[in-house]
Amino acid sequence: MVKHENFKTCEQSGFCKRNRAYADNVATYGNTWASPYTLDPNSVRIRHGYVTGTVLKSLKSGGQAVQLPVKLAFLESGVARVTIDEFKRQQKDIGLRHGSQARKERYNEAAAWALVTDGELDKSFSGEESEEETVVRYGPKQRYRAVIRHDPFSIDFFRDDELHIKINGRGLMNVEHWRAMVVKVEKGKSEKKDPEDGEDESTWWEETFGGNIDSKPRGPESVGMDISFIGYQHVYGIPGHASSLSLKQTRGGPGNYEQPYRLYNSDVFEYEMDSPMTLYGAIPLMQAHRKDSTVGVFWLNAAETWIDIVKQKVSSNPNSLVTGGGTDTETHWFSESGLLDVFVFLGPSPKDVVAQYSELTGYTQLPQQFALGYHQCRWNYVSDEDVKEVDTNFDKNNIPYDVIWLDIEYTDGKKYFTWDPHAFPDPLGMEKQLNDQERKLVVIIDPHIKNVDNYAVVKELKSMSLGVKDKNNKLFEGWCWPGSSHWVDCFNPVTIDWWRSLFTYKSFQGTAPNVFLWNDMNEPSVFNGPETTMPKDNIHHGNWEHRDVHNINGMTFVNATFEALLHRDPAISRRRPFILTRSYYAGSQRLGAMWTGDNLAAWSHLAASIPMILTHNVAGFPFAGADVGGFFGDPSKELLTRWYQAGAFYPFFRAHAHTDTRRREPYLAGDPYKEIITQALRLRYSLLPAWYTTFHSASTTGAPIIQPHYYAHPSDEAGFALDDQFYVGSTGLLAKPVTTAGAESISIYLPPNTLYYDYFTYTIHPGTGSTITIPTPLDKIPLLMRAGHIIPRKDHPRRSSGLMRYDPYTLLITLTPEGTANGDLYIDDGESYDYQEGAFIHRNFTFALNSLSSLDFEDEKQRNKGKKRREYVRQMDRVRVEKIIIVGVPGSWQARKEVRVVEDGEGRGVEMGFERGGAGTANVATVKDPGVRIGRDWRVEF
Ligand code: NOJ
Repeated sequence: MVKHENFKTCEQSGFCKRNRAYADNVATYGNTWASPYTLDPNSVRIRHGYVTGTVLKSLKSGGQAVQLPVKLAFLESGVARVTIDEFKRQQKDIGLRHGSQARKERYNEAAAWALVTDGELDKSFSGEESEEETVVRYGPKQRYRAVIRHDPFSIDFFRDDELHIKINGRGLMNVEHWRAMVVKVEKGKSEKKDPEDGEDESTWWEETFGGNIDSKPRGPESVGMDISFIGYQHVYGIPGHASSLSLKQTRGGPGNYEQPYRLYNSDVFEYEMDSPMTLYGAIPLMQAHRKDSTVGVFWLNAAETWIDIVKQKVSSNPNSLVTGGGTDTETHWFSESGLLDVFVFLGPSPKDVVAQYSELTGYTQLPQQFALGYHQCRWNYVSDEDVKEVDTNFDKNNIPYDVIWLDIEYTDGKKYFTWDPHAFPDPLGMEKQLNDQERKLVVIIDPHIKNVDNYAVVKELKSMSLGVKDKNNKLFEGWCWPGSSHWVDCFNPVTIDWWRSLFTYKSFQGTAPNVFLWNDMNEPSVFNGPETTMPKDNIHHGNWEHRDVHNINGMTFVNATFEALLHRDPAISRRRPFILTRSYYAGSQRLGAMWTGDNLAAWSHLAASIPMILTHNVAGFPFAGADVGGFFGDPSKELLTRWYQAGAFYPFFRAHAHTDTRRREPYLAGDPYKEIITQALRLRYSLLPAWYTTFHSASTTGAPIIQPHYYAHPSDEAGFALDDQFYVGSTGLLAKPVTTAGAESISIYLPPNTLYYDYFTYTIHPGTGSTITIPTPLDKIPLLMRAGHIIPRKDHPRRSSGLMRYDPYTLLITLTPEGTANGDLYIDDGESYDYQEGAFIHRNFTFALNSLSSLDFEDEKQRNKGKKRREYVRQMDRVRVEKIIIVGVPGSWQARKEVRVVEDGEGRGVEMGFERGGAGTANVATVKDPGVRIGRDWRVEF
């Protein structure tokens, strides 16, 4: 059970309580509320792609208005960005209490970590200013319009003249400006109400939680804003939470949460299901979706953040042709410190929103091929002999796997970069055995560095002053796995350089090139810290308070490890790093994979893993997984088996288990479980070409690797809340994992006017906008194929993905009633960066008019770009298509015995088999060994 008392509720978080109270106060005014923020019309400047000005916050006391410089940037891609700062803090014209060394400005470096580009400004943008408002038209074809009202300050965003998003429409904007602490002497106790502004001051200057005191040297400084999605009933995103895909309301009422969704990266022990409680990572990206329209916002702030969500019936937008029952979703965002920095995306499709967001924050890394295979982990494999034995047992049982993992016990007394000399006397020998089957080892390295004598790493950290500091600017000390520890401060470029030096093969002895990394506990987890993390008044590089950077901290650690892995040995050509992280922020997708942390071996956690992973997929971090089998506790064999069947469809597929659990490697499962788990693993491996192609697409467009229904069918309202079934990229594969005990059948929702086939039996399922039911004995994975796709596969079982490199392909084609299908296949060496120099093959397969063709995916220009292309294609010339399976062919094909294969202008006849489907099953044609080369242009005429 989660210990609620260890984590703050909104009421226990000063700025959360204040911002909610602000909203409640505004609500009591109804329509008469006048937000105290105005954009000074005389300050407005319209430049190339920008509008700048000063927002004035008037004070009830009548004192001088607070100046808040505002900058609106309008990008060519159609993204708008609103950034609000505070003049006095910009000028460093504030006083700090307690002699703090902290920076005086609002934190303004979140963008430097999260974004890869500020985006191209829109050159064709046009702006007009009147006394009341400034109107900007921008984006492709000037489709978008921002109406910036001056008094009170608010912004309405229109697409094609329809209102979609309102900022400060409800008047909840709240920028807590700097003020000096006034010590009130009234009856010797500190007054709760500010006599002038009527605000609750009790949490302005100090906050206590769980015995920890936050000294708050800069006083209150939160930023808050309401963002309303007009005519939108569903919002998604803002991971990580153990919640539904379509986010819930947070202001109470039946079925709703009482608490806002919280983003404050935390090590939450035994986290609970169906909760807005914060978890390990934070991505403040939200999408709103309604029939045929998607918009979104990205709240770029690294401090603790909360988001309230309320859905209002009856649209306040008289212009909109509102569907979904005329519901607006009203959100309210607030962060403890930093800039108010919001990006607005106007869609119109979910694909557009994710693409625009990914262009800014970077695409997901194209991982090495092995990373898409199966990962075997537990806390802990206890010795190098143990690892070798597990490895051998997989082989003895013909079960494929790619990676075995070592948790913290491999180290010498939790000192990272060392090996326990008794348990792991020969790590290189162990790695060699793995490498013989092209397998890898992942070792864990956490950001806490053991504070002991005779440990070179901590000695250097201290002498070079590379750790996070406490509020007195002394090296921060806290507790984690090793006991007393210090934390590396990876905001510091010198730390990154030093970190890099620790990973060279010479320095981190016992590691070979097939060793990769796991970065855990990087929220950071501090066992004796407030909410199991660092005090907020700790100081990082650049004198930023931990409060300002908390949610980015985990990403900076992975960034340092990524740099280190890239530079392990300059003599060996660069391989793509693989890193698994527990903590993350917007942008972490560039660096590796994430997982959902310490789940439980329970059916509810298996079920929850799917909406959780889907949420990360639509929030730009698709390389996501959950501990297969459940971390805490011992799963029943049925649960374990079903979890493998689900895990085979996680983008990141790793089994993991707590140190107190029984061993549960697949070969131990016994009959019939072992065989069924093996089948699930083999299914994953045979579909690796489709997965890798999907990852490639994610790495170039930001597209989710697993796609929820609303993403794949943005017009089908009936499926907007569906979060237990999903597609694998654009392959047409539709999975619905079994997540309940003893399930004899499962129902799958199919959208209208579609056609599906069962993956295994070729049973035909017409989609009619309702559910179908299929039987689910334990060995059945509910997996359908949407008609109209071509799925690349490799059907020879091997020990690891590396051993499949030159295996032949099977093309599985599912025909629409019109007899068409298409798909693609992306291949490269699966490990190096040579693909960036053209060493890849990307085919476009099309089936139409009884002919299947394979053509280059790129146009001529792209194709000839890379200097390593020709050589790669030549090297792959030996790789063939060994089988073509066509599902859904007409019965008349029975008479055909042969197809004509044309490659390089030469034609030849090849035999074709035909199998007539029984009642309700599709006819299937099979061409065995068409002999065509995977990297060449060819066609097969049926
Ligand atoms: C916490 C991680 O979430 C878990 O996966 C790991 O096994 C333990 N730390 C020990 O390193």
